[in-house]
Parts: sequence; C-alpha cells; structure tokens
Amino acid sequence: MRRGFFLSFEGLDGSGKTTQLRLLAASLEEQGLPVLVTRQPGDTALGERIRALLLNNKTLEETKPDSKAADIAPMAEMALMFADRAQSIRQIIAPALAAGQIVLCDRFTDSPEAYQGGGRELGSEVVLALHRLLCNDLQPDLTILLLPDLEASMARARGRRTTLQTGKETQGASEADRFEQENKTFYAKVFAKYQVIAARETARVVALQGDLSMKATQERILQVVQERLQERERTQQESAPSKPFSPTQAKRRLE
Ligand SMILES: Nc1ncnc2c1ncn2[C@@H]1O[C@H](COP(=O)(O)OP(=O)(O)O)[C@@H](O)[C@H]1O
Ligand SMILES: [Mg+2]
Repeated sequence: MRRGFFLSFEGLDGSGKTTQLRLLAASLEEQGLPVLVTRQPGDTALGERIRALLLNNKTLEETKPDSKAADIAPMAEMALMFADRAQSIRQIIAPALAAGQIVLCDRFTDSPEAYQGGGRELGSEVVLALHRLLCNDLQPDLTILLLPDLEASMARARGRRTTLQTGKETQGASEADRFEQENKTFYAKVFAKYQVIAARETARVVALQGDLSMKATQERILQVVQERLQERERTQQESAPSKPFSPTQAKRRLE
C-alpha cells in the first residue's frame, strides 16, 4: 500500500510549532492533499488521560513545575510519554500513513530526547533505546525544528503562562525569580540537546534558527515540505511496479 508522509514539528515551548503546523495544514489542504493533524502527548483516549496526568491540563511548558510538585520521577514521566506515543502510533499514525495521508505531528521522539534526555539529563541513549523497543523506531520523513533564540521562545511561553495562570502572579518576587531561573537553566539544556539532534540527523531534521518572522518561517517550511513531497513522488514512481523493468535496476540487483 502507498505510504504517506510523516512530518513532525519540534522546538521549545513558544517556538511556534502549533502556529506553523496549522498554517502548513491549511496550505496542504488547499492543494487537495490528505492531511491528518495530531499531537503528542494526547489525541487518543489513553493519551488524553496521560496528557492530563503529565501536564495537569495545561500546556507542555508547565509540565516542569507541575510534575515537580506532583513528584513525578523523571523516568516515570518518560515512561508515560512513551506509553502515549506507542498508543498514538498504533491508533492514529500508522493507519494514516498506511492510507497514504500526510501526518503532521506536534512533537515526536525528539521531544523526549531533548526534554528528558537533555533537560532532565537522562541522556539520549535511554530515550532512543525506548523508542526502538516501544515504537519500532518509527521516524518522521521530515522534522521541522523551530529554534528561535531561547529568550524569544521563553518570553512567548511566559506570556501564555501568565494568561493561563493568573494565580502565579501573586507569588513573591524572589519566588518568581527562582522559578524563572530554574526554567531558564532547564530550557538551555533542552535547547542544546535540540542542536545536538539537528547536527546528528541531517537528512531528517531541518532546523530554522534565529529571529524569523511568522511569515518567513511559514514560507520556508512550505518550500521545504513541497520539495520533500515532490522527491517522494519521484521515488514512489521509480519503485512503482507498473513501471517497465529498467536495465539499471536489473544490474543493481545482480551486483
Ligand atoms: N516567528 C514568530 N515571531 C513572533 N511570534 C511568533 C512567531 N511564531 C509564533 N509566535 C507567537 O508565539 C506564541 C507561541 O506560538 P505557538 O505556536 O503556540 O508555539 P508552540 O506551539 O511551539 O508552543 C504565539 O502567540 C504565536 O503567535
Ligand atoms: Mg503548541
């Protein structure tokens, strides 16, 4: 069966993933392409419960202080993330890819590698090993990694947090400063790990760094995705059984 195209969006909280994912989905749909949008954690019945446990019904950046408060051990946090991912692959991603859809996923395995592996210092290897074991090492065809400056991402995420959690504003200044400093150290480690991933996964990951406007980011993403989809069309046509058997292929097979 024709395989679809699997695209993940990665980056820090506030880096623009959800915004860009929606814009891209709209452009692809306008072209009449079959698009499925999903996110991790979440989107399956099990995943939503896991999401609520991990994020306490807020956005991902709040998982840090909240899971600390709830005293979720880093390994337990990671195990829950992988339980969600295994379910999501089985229930949503694999069937959509088998049906030839373009799957746009808000975060995938680079997130636990950056957050648990980097931020929580569990290391990459344990995350990659779990991914091989529990997720059959499924990799996106393309990963858009949004890496605006750390300060910019944090400021945007902070803005969102303040609107969501007005209660936090009543904290004393020193408590707020400590919280902010802790967050900054954590995010710097996540950011650094994302850069390690980008340097390692050069065929899969396209990193958009620095201070790009929303529009410039959108255009660049669309350009990269169009190129990759065209490339996929070409390779699928080449390997299609209807194509006459080529002497080069015969030669390659004999070698
Ligand atoms: N390139 C950009 N420049 C300025 N603001 C942006 C940019 N990309 C996203 N934003 C804004 O930053 C905030 C966070 O974006 P969002 O897509 O929710 O990030 P994420 O899903 O990565 O947490 C939103 O208010 C969004 O409008
Ligand atoms: Mg988001």
